[in-house]
Amino acid sequence: MARILVTGIATVDHVLDVAAYPGEDSESRALGSATRPGGNAANTACVLVQAGHRTDLAAVVAAGSEGDVLLGLLGTRGIGVAACARRSGRTPTSHVLCSLASGSRTIVHFRDLPELSAADFRRIDLSGYDWFHFEGRNPGELPAMLRTARRRAVDQPLSLELEKPREGLPAVLPLADVLMFSRGWARAWSVEEPEAFIRQAARQRPDQVQTLTWGDRGAWLAHRNEVFHCPPGAGLQIRDSLGAGDSFNAGLIHALVSGEPPEGALVSAVRLAERKLAQTGLDGLFEPLAG
Ligand code: FRU
Repeated sequence: MARILVTGIATVDHVLDVAAYPGEDSESRALGSATRPGGNAANTACVLVQAGHRTDLAAVVAAGSEGDVLLGLLGTRGIGVAACARRSGRTPTSHVLCSLASGSRTIVHFRDLPELSAADFRRIDLSGYDWFHFEGRNPGELPAMLRTARRRAVDQPLSLELEKPREGLPAVLPLADVLMFSRGWARAWSVEEPEAFIRQAARQRPDQVQTLTWGDRGAWLAHRNEVFHCPPGAGLQIRDSLGAGDSFNAGLIHALVSGEPPEGALVSAVRLAERKLAQTGLDGLFEPLAG
């Protein structure tokens, strides 16, 4: 069991399962409906808790009763919320359509809250953590947060998720030990070949553990001039892809903090993401499969 601090966002997700993605200005009936906590950092924290780690979330949460509801939802999932900062504004929400026909998830996100600032981060008691994970957003504040974490935690790894390309984020890459890239990030640099992206990343930053996820082609990991690929398992079922990338990141952190070597950690992370893809929501990911 490790103590992990995850920094990023927490949202309320309103999820509708639909048979197929609807057309604009149409009306149809959903097959299922759920309201759950979401946001990349909160999702990753939720999975890490299930893996047995004491996990705290550092996110901005709305002041007032809407924010209290979200903190309650996070708390019932076992996520520590004492490091969250309260600010006036609305609770961030996502309305999500999960299409059973294609397995896609279409997200419309509303956010008017400020991002967590470096000053908020400095107020957190950083002692006792074994791992610090950051969502790659808010490039203006992120370098100061990573430097603060590095000063207080010399031996504990810092990981950084790079999902959406944002101006200023590339400059933050050297500050983390583990970098988790998405297909969307690679494509923003006009790279269509995952192996080419990860090999270039390995040349640029050989000492970092770097991963790249690529949907139905699986995922790659580079470390010290070695590049590993984990293809998808046979018979992969896609029921719900919401939070699959966040589950991959949690699986990778779980494996590395538990002492698995990088190649094995990649396989564990891919298998956990596949388990998530085959089920609705994020609960019960470490429970034995029925039957
Ligand atoms: C999935 C997710 C959702 C959230 C949205 C925020 O990765 O974190 O839970 O609503 O993305 O962008």
